[in-house]
Amino acid sequence: MNTGQGIVFVCLGNICRSPLAEVVARKEFARHGLDIAVDSCGTGSWHIGEGADPRSVQAAAEAGYNLRPHRARQLDGEDFSRWRWLLAMDRANLRDLRRLAPDHQVERVGLFLEVAGVQPGGDVPDPYYGDIEDFRHMVRLVQQGVAGLVERLRAG
Ligand code: 4NP
Repeated sequence: MNTGQGIVFVCLGNICRSPLAEVVARKEFARHGLDIAVDSCGTGSWHIGEGADPRSVQAAAEAGYNLRPHRARQLDGEDFSRWRWLLAMDRANLRDLRRLAPDHQVERVGLFLEVAGVQPGGDVPDPYYGDIEDFRHMVRLVQQGVAGLVERLRAG
């Protein structure tokens, strides 16, 4: 299946950052009448099938987003043909995506905050070894990023 304009957000574990970006984007895209499919995945395999990190669930809930239904999955080869954009949450995820892209076809691969026009070369820092404040910071950064994507998508 080709999902047209669709976006898959990519982090390491698919339990903290990219699931949050997925739910924020789904909600904000719908609010702005943007019919664009969204998904998320991780480059790593450690957490396949698990729910989102409880700290992500909490920080997301505080901001009005429901991460409870999420189940982690790993990036696979089909993601590169299926999505218009594969957006990395940080530069390490971006390097992994570039390395894994079939035939080094990297034109669909980008850094989330950069593509969003928020911060060139900017990371959504990995909060996994941090505390709840790091997760709240992640939520604010992801909201800014998604707002930037909305502007860009509305501009065509
Ligand atoms: P995420 O965070 O990539 O935002 O989901 C992490 C989740 C798990 C691990 C690292 C980062 N881990 O090392 O298991």
